[in-house]
Amino acid sequence: MVNSIVLPKIMQIGADALNLLPDTLVSLGCCFPCIITDKTMVELGYMAKVEALLRQQNIQFGLFAETMPEPNDTSILAAVEMVQTNHYDCLIALGGGSAIDSAKAIALLASHGGKMRDYKVPYQVNEISLPVVAIPTTAGTGSEATRVTVISDSATDEKMLCMGSGLIPAAAIIDYQLTLSLPSRIAADTGIDALTHAIEAYVSRKANLFSDQQAIAAMKLIAPNLIKVCQEPDNLAAKEAMMLGATLAGIAFSNASVGLVHGMSRPIGVHFHVPHGMSNAMLLPTITEYSLPGAPLKYAECAMHMGLINNIEDEALAHQSLINELKQINQILAVPTLAQFGVEKAQYDSLLTNMAEQALASGSPSNNPKTPALNDIIELYRKVWVNSP
Ligand SMILES: [Fe+2]
Repeated sequence: MVNSIVLPKIMQIGADALNLLPDTLVSLGCCFPCIITDKTMVELGYMAKVEALLRQQNIQFGLFAETMPEPNDTSILAAVEMVQTNHYDCLIALGGGSAIDSAKAIALLASHGGKMRDYKVPYQVNEISLPVVAIPTTAGTGSEATRVTVISDSATDEKMLCMGSGLIPAAAIIDYQLTLSLPSRIAADTGIDALTHAIEAYVSRKANLFSDQQAIAAMKLIAPNLIKVCQEPDNLAAKEAMMLGATLAGIAFSNASVGLVHGMSRPIGVHFHVPHGMSNAMLLPTITEYSLPGAPLKYAECAMHMGLINNIEDEALAHQSLINELKQINQILAVPTLAQFGVEKAQYDSLLTNMAEQALASGSPSNNPKTPALNDIIELYRKVWVNSP
């Protein structure tokens, strides 16, 4: 069995890695980048840092600072046109997963035309597009190291999953210092997203020896530091570990796929505008409990790699420790219930079948160790309402 692994060509990892941006562009043979970011990055001064680094080396650049959270196909159109008109030779994606996902989509459409829906799964995006240099400012999505982008269809509200080696960033600059000013809510949501990536990749039906090693390392880095990065924002060691853990979790799921949590999470995000990591958190304990019989040994190992138990002699104890920990993380990090977030029960109930169909259509549930039918997903959505978080 051969596993085809896809990774960025260059990864600059550690404190002050950002300073290597000009060198990284040279290594890629690029000299005229367009920065893709959002207003918050400008306000926080990160954009000014990037600008200063480029100006010091006399590198001319363009700027599109209008990416939106949970991007859709219309939010990126102006940038596609700008990139095509000005003939930039690469994109620099600065921000969280939304900015990086936007840049991947912009590079694809600017290079090859068409509409985003042309590229959604099961289509495989193998086209080679403008290189993207991803600079994450959250420790969560792992988008800097994945061959995945998620863009919503503005006509149908569907969150379209697009995958393929053509979506892997050419380079990733992973500087944990860029996460120091993250608000604790965002640190919590993105951090739980990263933990979900590691667990779902590890138990995935597409897991392999390579992805398992990334997932194990990610769990070991994320589990002891997830709460610390939210409660101790100045804890540099925790921030560094979390940042690397999120990237490794991204590599793990990019090469093994995510599962039912992500499949069910995207429709909640679309219909109720719950941030991606937060909807994962609402689902994670219930869906993990449901999935345990599909991969009992691997879930027990998750508990061990997360440092919850010393060995897996008692599988039932391992499973209980894992579920308890996931519930406790949600409590400590104040993940709201769906009702507390403002979701109306009647509207939620009326959308159950629709959400379950969208979850199945994304393909992610088929990678889950226990594969659900449509009615099972509807029942799980009901259970999550009662249980969440
Ligand atoms: Fe995710």
